[in-house]
Amino acid sequence: MRVFNFSAGPAVLPEPVLKQAAEEMLDWRGHGMNVMEMSHRSKEFIDIAAEAEADLRELMDIPLNYRVLFLQGGATGQFAAIPMNITKPGDKADYAITGNWSKKATQEAKKYLEVNVAVKTDAHTHIPKFEDWEFSKDAKYVHITPNETIHGVAYNQYPNTGDVPLIGDVSSMILSQPIDVSKFAVLYAGAQKNIGPAGITVVIIREDLLGQAREDTPIERTVSTGGSRLTVWSILLASCACRLLAFAAKSVAWVPTSRAHALTRPRMSPYTSSR
Ligand SMILES: Cc1ncc(COP(=O)(O)O)c(C=O)c1O
Repeated sequence: MRVFNFSAGPAVLPEPVLKQAAEEMLDWRGHGMNVMEMSHRSKEFIDIAAEAEADLRELMDIPLNYRVLFLQGGATGQFAAIPMNITKPGDKADYAITGNWSKKATQEAKKYLEVNVAVKTDAHTHIPKFEDWEFSKDAKYVHITPNETIHGVAYNQYPNTGDVPLIGDVSSMILSQPIDVSKFAVLYAGAQKNIGPAGITVVIIREDLLGQAREDTPIERTVSTGGSRLTVWSILLASCACRLLAFAAKSVAWVPTSRAHALTRPRMSPYTSSR
């Protein structure tokens, strides 16, 4: 009997996905090897990642001026990668501390730039009114955690930050409800809560923020204009996770109207029999 797992993560994977993965363990689509044994730079892997991206774009109605990246390092990796990629030393950013995860994001960001804590709750039971937040005038971005996994505090609306990019850690809410991506400059999420197994991180970033990484940013942490290459550099497990993600995304009940229909979606699915 399969266990019902109600913990915050990792997510339960759909049984058909697990069955198909088991069937393909020795031979993936007649290649004589499992997908985990294939080159993560191969055309097959790139197709898998492209399909996962197309599925996610469709599900989240991601505008075309956003890149979708599948990276390593968990959501925690993005706590540092974001300031490294879109700010310079001495820049300032506003952080909202509304629970444990936003606190951790704030602590990490302090290593890379000046942090203004625009709002802080202690018991972490609510989101203070936006008019009471103390935004700084020269912030390069505002960081929020729309759903605090541990404290259970969730936003039901987002601060209007005007031209200042709004960044959201959506690890525990992605694909559980519609998100208006266009309200954010960057969204990021560890995949293990709502999408698939641990080992892959989704970053959705507006294109105008690309190509600004600090010179000393490790290449693996750099979200460059060649960001899609990072998909190819992802670990082999990520290739498997992309396939599971593609299926899992299809299993979500709500279907947005889709700008993404304009995208050319790859026709061949790794889970053709399940679709
Ligand atoms: C809201 C939130 N942010 C960040 C993290 C850290 O994610 P990761 O384990 O992928 O680094 C978690 C993990 O539980 C989380 O719930």
